[in-house]
Amino acid sequence: MRPVRALVLILLSPLLVALGVLYVPVLLVGMVIYMRRLGATRGQASGTAYEPLQMRLVYHLLGNRPDPVAFELTPHLPATDWGFLPVLISPFVWSIKLLGFIPKAFRYPPSNPTTFSGMMGARCKLIDDALEEHAAHGDQVVLLGAGWDVRGYRRPADQSVPWFEVDTPGTQAIKLTAVEAAYLDASAVTYVTCDFTEQTWLDALDGHGFDRSRRTYVIWEGVSMYLNDEVIAATLRAVTTLPAGSRIAFDLFTRQWLETKLGLAARRTVKRTYDEPWTWGLELDGPLAPSVEAYLGAHGLNVDRCWQLGFESEGVPAVGAVVLAAVPER
Ligand SMILES: C[S@@+](CC[C@H](N)C(=O)[O-])C[C@H]1O[C@@H](n2cnc3c(N)ncnc32)[C@H](O)[C@@H]1O
Repeated sequence: MRPVRALVLILLSPLLVALGVLYVPVLLVGMVIYMRRLGATRGQASGTAYEPLQMRLVYHLLGNRPDPVAFELTPHLPATDWGFLPVLISPFVWSIKLLGFIPKAFRYPPSNPTTFSGMMGARCKLIDDALEEHAAHGDQVVLLGAGWDVRGYRRPADQSVPWFEVDTPGTQAIKLTAVEAAYLDASAVTYVTCDFTEQTWLDALDGHGFDRSRRTYVIWEGVSMYLNDEVIAATLRAVTTLPAGSRIAFDLFTRQWLETKLGLAARRTVKRTYDEPWTWGLELDGPLAPSVEAYLGAHGLNVDRCWQLGFESEGVPAVGAVVLAAVPER
């Protein structure tokens, strides 16, 4: 911390402590309202989709990853339409700015490799970077399990590409209502509903303007952990039917990490909070990178980038990975 900032903080400390004490009841009431609002759409729409949204809001307010559209959408979503931004998100970011210290979980981009807490930042960064490349090539973009992601809205005209958002009917209906209420320009986005456990995403896209002969960038962010072996394999197989150079970016946990103490605790928390259990993790066969390569290779894809999550050593499994995989030339 710089000496001047430290001095100002010391001088202001009685005022800051008083503000902090006054804020505690506001924070508690805010948390209760948020949890109750989340509970109201439980089983109908995704609750976990709020987590990456919150991270993107924090990155935006810290000035590390602009996402003004996320800001416009947030006050129109069911769990966050009551003053969530000014009551919970903004004070948190102000305090970070005031202290001049960003906790590891909120740093963007995080270090590579990163820990579990940097997972959302890592996947966001890898996906954004690959998107730049694919948009420049004019590829189609498909978001599988789009949630409250707003990457497809108000893209610069010169980067406009066919854009598809796929999600369950319940989650997508809520997003559409929010997008309309926020007056977002969704003219470039095609919405398609699909439950991946019932239908492959590729079949769902048929008849919606998706071109199977065009190179495609598939974003599958924060979804694999809610699925199972068969659905994961079907999703990847569908990607391999697309033209060479098509890519899928996604994040995964390892099955071994999900069974560690921390993994089990995280699973319990997610299940209790959202009732959307983490059910899938990649079976490691040795170290992470070769396991990811072997798994994707067996499904017909080449690993292009692999960002490791967690540090592995003898008997300590990596947490997971964020992966960019490509359809090879045939
Ligand atoms: C953690 S959220 C991630 C949302 C978004 N990708 C992001 O990063 O902001 C998980 C998303 O996957 C979707 N999802 C989970 N299981 C699904 C399934 N079986 N079929 C379709 N979508 C699913 C949820 O509806 C939710 O939008």
